[in-house]
Amino acid sequence: MARLRVRDLRKSFGDKTVIDSISFEVSDGEFCILLGPSGCGKSTILRLIAGLDQKDGGAIHIDDREVSELTPGERDVAMVFQSYALYPHLSVYDNMAFPLVMQKMKREERDAKVREVAALLGIEGLLQRKPKELSGGQKQRVAIGRAIVRRPKIFLFDEPLSNLDAKLRAAMRVELAHLHRQLRTTTVYVTHDQTEAMTLGQKIVLLDSGIIQQTGTPDDLYARPANTIVAGQIGVPGMNFLEGKIETAGGGLIFRSDACTIPVDPRKELRPYQGREVTMGIRPEALIPGTGDISATIEFVEHLGSEAVLYARAGKARIVAKVPADFGKGIGEKVSFALHDKGLHFFFKGSRIERVD
Ligand SMILES: Nc1ncnc2c1ncn2[C@@H]1O[C@H](COP(=O)(O)OP(=O)(O)OP(=O)(O)O)[C@@H](O)[C@H]1O
Ligand SMILES: [Mg+2]
Repeated sequence: MARLRVRDLRKSFGDKTVIDSISFEVSDGEFCILLGPSGCGKSTILRLIAGLDQKDGGAIHIDDREVSELTPGERDVAMVFQSYALYPHLSVYDNMAFPLVMQKMKREERDAKVREVAALLGIEGLLQRKPKELSGGQKQRVAIGRAIVRRPKIFLFDEPLSNLDAKLRAAMRVELAHLHRQLRTTTVYVTHDQTEAMTLGQKIVLLDSGIIQQTGTPDDLYARPANTIVAGQIGVPGMNFLEGKIETAGGGLIFRSDACTIPVDPRKELRPYQGREVTMGIRPEALIPGTGDISATIEFVEHLGSEAVLYARAGKARIVAKVPADFGKGIGEKVSFALHDKGLHFFFKGSRIERVD
């Protein structure tokens, strides 16, 4: 078990800065997610922590030790790659035993550890097989087994589930969460899948364009996104954004846009923005069909069984709403939505206007 601290981490490839002064902490036993779009530098950060690449600046501490001069082995971290990286000529047993052989652990002790971890992951029956005789999900389990068998201080996972089909991914997600509850090993887990981030993470570090946009619990990022980048990445379907202006009408404040005009007087935080252009974000689950503030024409309905997703046009804006499965209206029909205040967010030049009560 260990605490990880990353301070002002920087990395360039040639003259391209990929990581620009990244700082975050993972406390002892915490499951931390690095979430961000493809190419934002997630794998690079993991490789720097693991010692597989050299940083250009900043510091990486594991507990109270700066580890930058240490080899990957000396750092006592284990990394699970998206590509599994199993040794093809070795059996599952030998793949899992490999890190222990490197540690020169005695044969009986090694055997006990491999079998214990195989049981934990439900792969006891596969120990004599070669990687090519395994399914994707089984390979992934072996790769995880090889990482946990020596109980490292820190686990580093680089999109370990992205090669699996949706159903298996969901099942492995639950297993990983369960495994973490049992082992309580400090973990940094990279993904670009926000569902994975929301369900697995105790803390999410959301990256975009080489910088941290927000760090917090999944609830924090969902309920109080710091900016429109975070707001757009957290939540499925993504948040709707309407551009408009804060104005006064009838002695109160209103938000006026092409799609709707709604009173926002109780939102004291909007008072300094009178006459200014702001962005209103609406969660798809905060659009309640019935009678209300936004009138739209349905363009498409996606039936998901338990619920439906409506794609509609309001003025020039396109909006997406999550509605009950028995909603009953189809393409071309008119629909009105009331807005659930809890799902409304306001942004000025992309940054959150913080709520004051
Ligand atoms: N060895 C390298 N040489 C040059 N550029 C690199 C190298 N490794 C990564 N990059 C660049 O650095 C950026 C970040 O790459 P990285 O692999 O960290 O992204 P990522 O967030 O893990 O993306 P993905 O989700 O696609 O795996 C990318 O623009 C990539 O092209
Ligand atoms: Mg990557």
